[in-house]
Amino acid sequence: MTLNAESFAGAAAAAHPELLQRLHAAVGDAGLVLDPEAQAPYLRDWLGKWQGRTPVVVRPRDTAQTAAVMAICHETHTPVVTQGGNTGMSGGATPDASGAQLVLSTARMNAIREVDPMNNSLTVEAGVLLAQVHAAAAEVGRFFPLSLGSEGSCTIGGNLATNAGGIAVLRYGNMRDLVLGVEAVLPDGRVWNGLRALRKDNTGYDLRHLFIGSEGTLGVITAAVLKLYPQPIARATAWIGADSIDALVALQAHLRSYCGERLVAFEMMSQASLALVLEHVTATRAPLQGAHAFHALVELADARADGLLDLLEQSLGAALEAGWAQDVAICASTAQASALWKLREGISQAQVRAGKAVKHDIALPISAIAGFVADADAALRALLPGVRIVNFGHLGDGNLHYNVLLPLDTPHAEYTARTASLNRVVHDRVHALGGSISAEHGIGQLRREELPRYKSALEFELMMRIKQALDPNQIMNPGKLL
Ligand code: FAD
Ligand code: MLT
Ligand code: ZN
Repeated sequence: MTLNAESFAGAAAAAHPELLQRLHAAVGDAGLVLDPEAQAPYLRDWLGKWQGRTPVVVRPRDTAQTAAVMAICHETHTPVVTQGGNTGMSGGATPDASGAQLVLSTARMNAIREVDPMNNSLTVEAGVLLAQVHAAAAEVGRFFPLSLGSEGSCTIGGNLATNAGGIAVLRYGNMRDLVLGVEAVLPDGRVWNGLRALRKDNTGYDLRHLFIGSEGTLGVITAAVLKLYPQPIARATAWIGADSIDALVALQAHLRSYCGERLVAFEMMSQASLALVLEHVTATRAPLQGAHAFHALVELADARADGLLDLLEQSLGAALEAGWAQDVAICASTAQASALWKLREGISQAQVRAGKAVKHDIALPISAIAGFVADADAALRALLPGVRIVNFGHLGDGNLHYNVLLPLDTPHAEYTARTASLNRVVHDRVHALGGSISAEHGIGQLRREELPRYKSALEFELMMRIKQALDPNQIMNPGKLL
């Protein structure tokens, strides 16, 4: 590789002509991506919504190399955008357009350091893919429950930094609940080793939680100790058609009481969301005859096989009688269950193909969901007659992806203006009901301007103080979250 500081286009490099040489000394040839074509995948997000520039993509091999890179960036005040699998939905991993922000990819930090089935724990580096963690747990007869449509591409570091949620939160919690320890490189290059594999540790502030959900603004997460669970050997899956969202809210409460811990997923989608998938994702078909206003995909799981299917049949039989379900299809094979999950997990892709989505990732008390949907639907229809609402999500944990789909050819200025007015209608209502404007995707650059409207001044101030304490030079992911 020819190292020429003049080809290093960013403002940071101009101020520090020796920066590239120093980074090269830290990570070697294999750790630097300078070629614009090779850089391209790091500069655009999964949704295709944000496009950035960078002087260099740095790919450290391990924690020591990450520490060396961060020490250089701290000293030279070089801004750093950490990137895992680049599947984030809020633009958190995309550098800005200045060309000054270095991208630090964790892709090469992909070792599984330790598997401890007796302690039900697994220690992995940040760049390990979520699907690899599933496989490593299964190899020793254990289970890691975080489950996302992006699991073949997203990384454990990204899951931690966004506090990812997904489809099993109602049973196992979100990423924050699934982590025992964290290792992170601080913005000044020092390494904090918090890789404790303990379920009890009351020795002061629990610093791992600072990094979980911090979206790359406080340091680089380099490794984590994850909690493992018994491997479910039996699963029972069903599709339900219902005539209202109120009915589905009642259904999830009924299934929770009836099936207890065995209820692991309760996903919801409106008829419009299902229609999008059927139109835009190949090899899909409607699971029920006739249209229903809302649909649910429900899964039970257990470490013992006995009676799981009977339990599902009985509980759904009672739901049909009570009117919480209009029609039900129970899967007779894993192939049928996979076909149903394909319908649910195809919504993100179908949306990208069908239009320009104004995305809302909201959390509400489950008891407030039906009222919210009725009120927000009416308000959106009044604001924008004929509006296409794509409402789906993790109803069992109170998280809706309550999106509005605008035509693909909507001009950028119109899209931006509409986003602001639609956000206002949705987020103000969510806030009034004690909800959150981001349940699982994070703030990133998508909701950064929205955040101060809904956080108290004190909460904002405390967040700023934490940021200042850990990152005094303000180099970690500038322009995101805060
Ligand atoms: P990236 O996109 O690379 O980064 C995300 C954020 O984390 C950025 O701010 C980045 O700076 C920061 N970051 C990444 N790695 C590190 C690190 N090592 N240290 C510090 N900061 C870091 N999300 C859900 O929660 N639930 C879902 O159900 C879900 N389904 C999805 C389905 C599809 C089809 C897709 C494309 C995405 C989905 N997502 C979902 C969103 C996304 O997959 C998650 O947010 C995931 O956790 C991001 O991981 P990543 O490795 O791709 O992170
Ligand atoms: C999902 O639940 O499918 C995701 O969080 C992705 C999305 O909102 O598109
Ligand atoms: Zn989701």
